[in-house]
Order: sequence, then structure tokens, then C-alpha cells
Amino acid sequence: EAAVSATMKHLLTLLVMLGSFQHALPESYSCSASEFKLDGEYILGGLFDIHHRSSSVVYNRPVIVDCSRQSFTLSSYRMFQVMRFAVQEINNSSLILPNVSLGYEIFDHCSDTFNFQAILNMISRNGSIQVLRCVNEYVSKVIAVAGPFRSMESMTVAPLFAMNLIPMVNYGSSSSVLSDKWKYPSFLRTTASNKDLIQLIILIIQHFNWNWVAFVSSGDENSQNGLQLFKSKLKDTKICLAYAKELNEMSDHYEILQQLEDLSIEVIIVFARQSSAVAFIKSAIKHNIHSKVWIAGDSWSLNKNLPRLSGIKAIGTIIGITETVMPLPGFKDFVYLSHTQRNNRPTTCEQTPSGRTCNQACDLCSDVSPEEIIGENPSYSFATYSAIYAMAHALHNLLLCDIKGCSDNVTVYPFMLLQELKRSNFTILNRHIEFDSNGDPTCTSYAIVFWNQSGQAQKVGSYETDPAVDVPFSINNTKIHWYADQVPVARCSPECSEGFAKKKDGLHQCCFQCNVCPGMTYVNYTDNPYSCINCRKTEWSKPGSTFCTQRSVEYIPFTDPVAITLMFSTGVLLALTLAIVILFALNYDKPVVKSAGGPMCFLLLGCLSASSISVFFFFGKPTVTNCVLRYFLFLLFYTVCLGCFAVRSFQIVCIFKMATKFPKIHSWWVKHNGQWWLIAIVFVLQLLLLTTVFTASPPTPVNDMTSYRDQIILKCAMSRTVIMFLLLTIVLASLCFIFSYMGKDLPKNYNESKAITLYLLFLILTWITFCTASILYHGKYLQLFNAMSVLSSSYSILFCYFLPKCYIIIFQPQKNTQQHFQGIIQRYTQNISSK
Ligand SMILES: *[C@@H]1O[C@H](CO)[C@@H](O)[C@H](O)[C@H]1NC(C)=O
Ligand SMILES: *[C@@H]1O[C@H](CO)[C@@H](O)[C@H](O)[C@H]1NC(C)=O
Ligand SMILES: *[C@@H]1O[C@H](CO)[C@@H](O)[C@H](O)[C@H]1NC(C)=O
Ligand SMILES: *[C@@H]1O[C@H](CO)[C@@H](O)[C@H](O)[C@H]1NC(C)=O
Ligand SMILES: *[C@@H]1O[C@H](CO)[C@@H](O)[C@H](O)[C@H]1NC(C)=O
Ligand SMILES: *[C@@H]1O[C@H](CO)[C@@H](O)[C@H](O)[C@H]1NC(C)=O
Ligand SMILES: *[C@@H]1O[C@H](CO)[C@@H](O)[C@H](O)[C@H]1NC(C)=O
Ligand SMILES: *[C@@H]1O[C@H](CO)[C@@H](O)[C@H](O)[C@H]1NC(C)=O
Ligand SMILES: *[C@@H]1O[C@H](CO)[C@@H](O)[C@H](O)[C@H]1NC(C)=O
Repeated sequence: EAAVSATMKHLLTLLVMLGSFQHALPESYSCSASEFKLDGEYILGGLFDIHHRSSSVVYNRPVIVDCSRQSFTLSSYRMFQVMRFAVQEINNSSLILPNVSLGYEIFDHCSDTFNFQAILNMISRNGSIQVLRCVNEYVSKVIAVAGPFRSMESMTVAPLFAMNLIPMVNYGSSSSVLSDKWKYPSFLRTTASNKDLIQLIILIIQHFNWNWVAFVSSGDENSQNGLQLFKSKLKDTKICLAYAKELNEMSDHYEILQQLEDLSIEVIIVFARQSSAVAFIKSAIKHNIHSKVWIAGDSWSLNKNLPRLSGIKAIGTIIGITETVMPLPGFKDFVYLSHTQRNNRPTTCEQTPSGRTCNQACDLCSDVSPEEIIGENPSYSFATYSAIYAMAHALHNLLLCDIKGCSDNVTVYPFMLLQELKRSNFTILNRHIEFDSNGDPTCTSYAIVFWNQSGQAQKVGSYETDPAVDVPFSINNTKIHWYADQVPVARCSPECSEGFAKKKDGLHQCCFQCNVCPGMTYVNYTDNPYSCINCRKTEWSKPGSTFCTQRSVEYIPFTDPVAITLMFSTGVLLALTLAIVILFALNYDKPVVKSAGGPMCFLLLGCLSASSISVFFFFGKPTVTNCVLRYFLFLLFYTVCLGCFAVRSFQIVCIFKMATKFPKIHSWWVKHNGQWWLIAIVFVLQLLLLTTVFTASPPTPVNDMTSYRDQIILKCAMSRTVIMFLLLTIVLASLCFIFSYMGKDLPKNYNESKAITLYLLFLILTWITFCTASILYHGKYLQLFNAMSVLSSSYSILFCYFLPKCYIIIFQPQKNTQQHFQGIIQRYTQNISSK
């Protein structure tokens, strides 16, 4: 930018000087037969780099660059011919600019910064340049200019045209810098801006799901600007630029290719000027590079010679981007015709020495055959053609032309033409031409091409910038034949599989490791692919999840079949208890009932019923009430039952053993109803214990989140003090067991010790089973096991203790007599005394 403004300052000084010496420029040398010039009422300027100065020679003297000595570019010569063709077509047409003859003045523009004679010639009037006083009065030699081709050339010459607001309609400079109308007010273009080209490249990369690419540019403004745009656009994408390199004459292609190999880059964008790109690709062939994808910029994607090289298939697949090629009807005939005309006419130009320095000569051009011109890279041809048409249309409108003719009363000032050009709105060869506020074409059609087996660029996709198009970007995958028979993978790291979080590996976001997310976490790719997020407390997930699921809430409802069975069994137990109570009441004075404890039986049966009622509180959603009741009822009343049994077995031992050895204690016991006292003490003690503990820390409903990751189990939590009130129960059970064991050798039918021992064995077995289960299993069915154990404890009393007695009462009344019992006791006493 600084360079440009410096150049500008320089030029302005030059112009002022020129203004003071009005005849500094030579009179227009007459060279009418040349292809570079056509007389007409209105002259259009043209700048084409038919030659290009490639070597950097440093001058010591002020010399004019003689373009015809530089290297020849056939594709530019083709564009040059397209301009001539367009002007002739317009001149022939009666629809556009009728009766107005359009001429042109074309210069070979072979240097980025040195060819100002041509420009000065164009902006001169009558062979001189005047210092401006009032812009309206100035009509330069040319009313508008097409070109120059390169962005850098455009940037250096644009200020000179901008001074008089002479419109520049460009056909080949795609740098986005030129869109800035503040700096380049008279610049318009019919070719694509890099903005669209780079966007298209990014779309292609995204289409094939690549993210690890290299960008090779050349030193010119066009491709440097492309690289800049590419870098800035990458920010919004997931693509990483693994490598960027600028090609110049000194570049070591081998080294670059080696670096590309080392970084295992599969996709290489070559967005460079044609000559550099061709040299680079040729090096790749030479150095045996293979299996790569090359994305060709618009400058060389339609190159005619490269696809026909023998080694080109080995280097991989080449995909190119280009503006859609529009065939120009009549151009072929025009080229053949002008070729014959040129060869038939005497070359007067070359004889005038001034012709050379003004760069309006081309010695080599006459050697080029029409076939070569027609077969040359057609890129930018339509852009050139439509640029000329845009100027003609603007002039047409400015001259108020209609079918009859044009007004001859209008002075055409360049700035008026510029205004008219900005309003351009016409259709040519079915393509709509319009400029946006930046002077860029509003709708451009791009093609994606593939260099196929027959060495041709085959169209495989398209991209339209026209917002009215439904599918702006499309690509037909089946038309592309990949070197590997399938779309190559060009990624730094393969994408993580589902449920794996990325861990960045190095500087690029495309390079990462994949780590599986542990259970109870998930990874959300849209949100943050780099971290595993914890699930909420009420949710769970497997390892490697992308989402969490709600945990199920588990408890045993009243409708559970097992619960119903248990409650039914409890009902049966209560009914049986009632039946036994009735049976015992009816046989109250019979010895079986008496030996079973008499009134104590009713207490036992009552407590049994009360404790088994607790089964009903094990089901449904746990609440404070049912948590408390399920334990309170059972622990209180079942302990009383145990107390009864302890006292019973103690008495049995007393009656037969203690009575003889400690008669005093025995008589005291009988006299004061010792058994009832003991039971009362047990009851009160347990009641106090339970009340204290339950008041301090009552069993509460809790949500067990830890036992199962996919379930929340609703249960009652018992505090650790549970041991406290179990203590009494366990002591009683142990006492009971000891006493009943001591009484095991008592008379056969009379003793209850065996029944009590059996019952206690059942009881112990039941609770050991339950304890084992509760250690191993924490699910919701533990409640069921608990209820079952409670029920089983109750049933074992019923079955082991009461049912045998009921059996005797009902089915063996002969045993239920005083004589029978006394007989047993006598036999026992004889037995003892005989020992
Ligand atoms: C223009 O008209 C001339 C003479 O009629 C003809 O020879 C030439 O081919 C035409 N050119 C175009 C481009 O139509
Ligand atoms: C322009 O076209 C007209 C026919 O429309 C032709 O008579 C005239 O010679 C052409 N001028 C030039 C310079 O070719
Ligand atoms: C150009 O110069 C000629 C003669 O030198 C003169 O007659 C003519 O008026 C000049 N035209 C303009 C536009 O200055
Ligand atoms: C074009 O100009 C010629 C002579 O200059 C004239 O005879 C003809 O009528 C004009 N045509 C139109 C459409 O103005
Ligand atoms: C040309 O235009 C001027 C100003 O617009 C007008 O005064 C003049 O009469 C016009 N001449 C012709 C021949 O139309
Ligand atoms: C361009 O011209 C067409 C008709 O030719 C018209 O419908 C359209 O509105 C015009 N567009 C603009 C931007 O003026
Ligand atoms: C290559 O592309 C050209 C142009 O589209 C086409 O005519 C030709 O058939 C293609 N060749 C192959 C082998 O596909
Ligand atoms: C893609 O190309 C294949 C063959 O080249 C063709 O059969 C198919 O119709 C094309 N698909 C589309 C959507 O154009
Ligand atoms: C992932 O994150 C996005 C954006 O934050 C959000 O819209 C989406 O619901 C999340 N998906 C899951 C499964 O959480």
C-alpha cells in the first residue's frame, strides 16, 4: 500500500511536469494496420500482458520496458483477441450503439510497475496531458479501459485513471483489495473476486470432509490476497492450514514437496499464477510425488498442456475451480479471419521505431496459429467479452441510443460513463451482468473441474453466487475418479468416535487424541467436543455417551405381585392366629394349653399379630410414617415374643432342675409371678430404647443414588444406632437358645424346648440369610426380603410352636389329658433316678 501511494506521488509529479511541457509525448504514430488499434468515434482502452517481464533486471538508466522482448503468454493473447472480437461485434450490431463506431487502443502491459507510457497515452488528449482545473471539461483519448490483467498492475495504474474517473472494467484482477471503492473509485470488474474463489475452495474442502491442507501461492498480489482471505475465512471453519508457502523464482520446489510429504498433507491448494503453478506441478511430477489431491486456482485450472503430460496421473487427483466457461459464438471465425488479414497486410508498424517503445507490437503473435489461440486456456475470455459489452451498454445508454440511432448532442465524459457503468443491467449470452456497490459482479457462475483420464478438464460441479439460485454449490462425486478409488482422507487426526472427547495435540485444532468419556459423563460435540460433562444427579450414562438418561426411580409398589403375595400371607397369618386364639380359648383348661404357657399364649399370639402387621408398611413409596412403623412395630412386639420364649424356656429349666437345687428362688418366682415381671421389664426396656433411638435419629426415607448408576432406589435409612435396640433382641434370643438347649433332655412329649430350639434355628437362619442378602444386594427388592424375613419370623413361631399343639388338641385328644402328662413325668423321674 505504501508502495502504491509512493508510486502515485511520483506519477503526479511526473504529470505536472508533463503538463508544463505539452508536447512531451510524441504524436500518435500512425499504425492503422496494427491489431492494437482501431479508429472510431469512441475509443476503448485495453491493457493485456501479452508478454510478461519475469526476470528482475535493475536498470541504471531510464529505459522504457520493451514488452515484445519479454516472455510471451498465449492465454493473454487470446483475451486480447476476445476484446477485438467484442468491439467488432458491437460495431457490426445494429442493436447496440447503432451508427456509432467504436474503436480501441490496446497496449501490451508487461510489467507490474514500469509501463506508464501506455497509461499516459490513454489519459492524454490530443497527445498531451493537461493539469486538471475542472474535471468536467476533460475528455481523454479513451473513454474507458479494459484491464490490466494482474491485480498488482491494476493497483499501480488505477490511481491515474481514478484522477479523471476514467472507468476501468477489469477482466482478470481478482484481489479483494480492489473492491475498496474508497481507494479505487473507478474500478469495476467482470471477473470473480478472490472472496468467491476462496469461498469455493473452502466449500470443496468441506464437501470432502478434509481439514488438513496446504496452500501454495505465488508472489503476486492476486495469490497473496487469496492466501490472506483463505486464512481469515478458516477462522469460521474446522479446517486447518497445515502449511503455506509462497513460490518465487528462487523457490526450491523439491524442498517444498518434501515438507508436504513430511507433514503428510494430502490436499494441496495451488493458488498461484499460471507460470508458477505449472512449474511447481512439473517439479512434482519430476520428483515422483504421488497420491495427492491438488486444488487448482482459476489461473491454471483450465491449462491446456499440463493435463496432457504423461506423469500427471501419478501425482494424484487434480480438481480445479474456474469461472464457468462460456463459448463465444463467432469467435473462432473471427480468429481465422483476422489471422488471414494479418498475414496479407504489409507490416508497416514494425518499420516505425517509435512503435516498439509504445508496446503496441507483437512479433511472435503472427507465428501463433488460430487453432492455438482457440485451443488456449479459455479462462477470463468471457470476463473480457462482458467487460467490453458493459462499456458499450453504458455508452449506449449515455448516448440515449434507440433502434433509430443515437443522439449526437451528448458530450461523453468518462465520469458519466462510470456512473452509467455502475448502473449496468443487461444480459449477454444468457448471463446477467450487474455490479454491486464494490464494482464486483453480483452473480458469477463458477465451475469445479476435474482433470480426467483423457487429459481434459471435465466439469463436475458448480457454484453460483446469485442469491436467487436454490442450490448454490453442488458437486457430482461420481464423476471424480480418485487416485485411490475413494475420496482420500485428509485429516490431521481421524474424527473421534461417538462418546470420545478430543484432547488437543499440538497447535492445530485438527490434531487431537480421543479419550473415552467415563460413565456418568457425556460429551456434546455441538457444545464442546473437548470435555466430558458430568451428568446431573438424577441422570446417568454409560462410558462413551453423548447424552445422559434419566435414572429410574425404584421402590416396591403395593401392586407388585410379590408384595401382594406377602400381604396375603400376612392376612393368612393373622387369620390363623385368630383361629388359634379361639381354639386355645375353648381348650383353656386342657393340659396342652396349660403346658404351652396358658395366658402367656394369648400374649404371644397378640404380639405376633402386632409385629406381623409391620409387613404392610414395607410397600409403597417410603414416607417417614411407614419407615418408622415398619421397624417400630416389629422390633417392639417381636422382642416381647422373644422375651416370652426366653421366660418359658427358663421356666422349663427351673421346673425340672432349679426347683430341686434352689427351692427358695423357685418359690419366690412362683409367688411373685416372676415371669410376668420379666416380660413387662423387657417390654418397657425395648419401648424406651426404641423411643430414644427413634427420636434421636428416626429411620427416614432416602434416595439411594450410589448403589446403582441407572437407578434411584427409594428406601428407609436406618441410623447406625440400630445395633442398640437389636442388642436386647439378640440377648433375648441367645438366652432363649441357651435355656431351650439346656432343657433338651426333658420328657419327650412334654417339652417345648425342642419346638423352641427349632423355632430359634429357623429365626437365626432367616436373619442370617437376610443379612447376607443385604450385604450383597442393594436393589429395591431388599425391602421385599426384609418383609419376607419378618413374615418368616412370625410364621416360624406359628409353625414350630403353636401348630403342633393345635394338632394334639384337634387330632390326638387322648394325649391331651392330665393322666398322659403325669405318665410322661413319672417315666422321666424314674429315668433320672435310675441313672
Ligand atoms: C462484422 O462485419 C464484417 C463485415 O460485414 C464481417 O466481415 C465480420 O465478420 C463481422 N464481425 C463480427 C464479429 O460479427
Ligand atoms: C463498423 O461497422 C460498420 C457496419 O456496421 C462498418 O461499416 C464499419 O466499417 C465498421 N467500422 C470499423 C472500423 O470496422
Ligand atoms: C487537437 O489539436 C488540433 C490541432 O492541433 C486542434 O485543432 C483540436 O482542436 C485539438 N482538439 C482538442 C480537443 O483539443
Ligand atoms: C447511419 O448513418 C448513415 C450515414 O452516416 C445514415 O445513412 C443512416 O441513416 C444512419 N442510420 C441510422 C439508423 O441512424
Ligand atoms: C443540444 O443540447 C443543448 C443542451 O442540452 C441544447 O441547447 C441544444 O439545442 C441541443 N442541440 C440539438 C441539435 O439537439
Ligand atoms: C435489471 O433489468 C431487469 C429488466 O431488464 C429488471 O427487471 C431489473 O429490476 C433490473 N435490475 C436492477 C437492479 O435495476
Ligand atoms: C473428459 O472430459 C471431457 C470433457 O468434459 C469429456 O468429453 C471426456 O469424455 C472425458 N473423458 C473421460 C475419460 O471421462
Ligand atoms: C453424476 O454423474 C453421473 C455420471 O457421471 C451421472 O450418472 C449422474 O446422473 C450425475 N448426478 C447428478 C446429480 O448430476
Ligand atoms: C448440546 O449442546 C447444544 C448447544 O449448547 C444444545 O443445544 C444441545 O441440546 C446439547 N445436546 C445435548 C444432548 O445436551
